[in-house]
Amino acid sequence: MIRTKIAGIGMYLPKNVVTNDDLAQVMETSDEWIQERTGIKERRFATRFEDTTTTMGVEAAKIAMQRAGVVANDIDFIVFATLSPDYYFPGCGVLAQRALGMPEIGALDIRDQCSGFIYALSVADQFIKTGMYKNILLIASETHSYGLDFSTRGRNVSVIFGDGAGAVVLQPTTESDRGILSTHLHCDGTEAELLSMVNPGFHAGKFVAEKKPLEPSQPYGGLFITKELLEKDDIYPYMDGPAVFKKAIVKFPEVIMEALTASSYQPSDLNLLIPHQANLRISQMVQQKLKLREDQVFNNIQKYGNTTAASIPIALCEAWENGKVKDNDLVCLAAFGSGFTWASALLRW
Ligand SMILES: CC(C)(COP(=O)(O)OP(=O)(O)OC[C@H]1O[C@@H](n2cnc3c(N)ncnc32)[C@H](O)[C@@H]1OP(=O)(O)O)[C@@H](O)C(=O)NCCC(=O)NCCS
Repeated sequence: MIRTKIAGIGMYLPKNVVTNDDLAQVMETSDEWIQERTGIKERRFATRFEDTTTTMGVEAAKIAMQRAGVVANDIDFIVFATLSPDYYFPGCGVLAQRALGMPEIGALDIRDQCSGFIYALSVADQFIKTGMYKNILLIASETHSYGLDFSTRGRNVSVIFGDGAGAVVLQPTTESDRGILSTHLHCDGTEAELLSMVNPGFHAGKFVAEKKPLEPSQPYGGLFITKELLEKDDIYPYMDGPAVFKKAIVKFPEVIMEALTASSYQPSDLNLLIPHQANLRISQMVQQKLKLREDQVFNNIQKYGNTTAASIPIALCEAWENGKVKDNDLVCLAAFGSGFTWASALLRW
């Protein structure tokens, strides 16, 4: 039986460390408030005009490829997960193909926000298991800091997010009980706008009355981005934090149990749970609900904030580099985020 294994993993964190005190210089917030509610002490921000979602992803990819022992010519497919692409289109996948000098292979961009890495992993897993591809490069990268509202108005969102990238090279394995054992993907779009960035966009105010742009003077066009949006500064992400929190603490345990049950395991069998780094309080509640020991859950949100699609590969990479993921370990990845989307993957390292 063919399964998919992670043959190499890498991460890239931009060098600029931004502490909670740094943020308190530009908005009304405090180190105490941020740490108490989220556990975050600092995050990394991309170097302006230098780092982008693609360039950071490419740096992570180079490390993952080197660790997997492959070169650009070996890769036969790219999957790129991000909610902060360099361009509205084309996607970051093709920009990564260009930057890495890869042959004319396929590239797929995944837009599932915090669940993006696991969605991408699941897609790649299907291509490997069917024998279609032998070396898939999966990149997850985010540059939040270029587009957040760093005034007091946007503080509930902007203190949470950070920039960074992670990447893995995926290959087939026939070793029994190794690699990705299962993936589980879910969404519920009924509350899509509770964690969203709808502007600029092509929605024409269809779903939320107050987001309806003024009738433009021209008969065609003029709805994607309007002067009015810029004047009202209505171009930032929105998050109903308490609603997200409530849903996350239900869906995280549910989807982790789904993954464990699919392979007849229990929480006590897990060597390591790597939850998407949404908020340290969410991870702690999940840990309590599943009765996991502290050493069974890996968190690094304290240093990097929430890096959305990139958070799981960054955490997995750091855990592996620190010897917390070893050969044969049972590892569960789990995510919840905007959409809402949620997902899990169970793997034997
Ligand atoms: C965002 C979050 C930390 C906010 O914490 P909360 O306890 O729910 O706080 P609230 O949004 O109810 O706001 C409480 C007060 O703090 C204020 N506040 C919000 N952000 C603040 C900040 N950065 N600094 C200081 N005060 C802040 C609010 O304005 C509000 O003030 P008020 O009571 O005077 O109106 C919390 O809801 C959360 O973590 N939610 C999940 C978010 C998440 O995980 N998102 C990623 C999903 S992938």
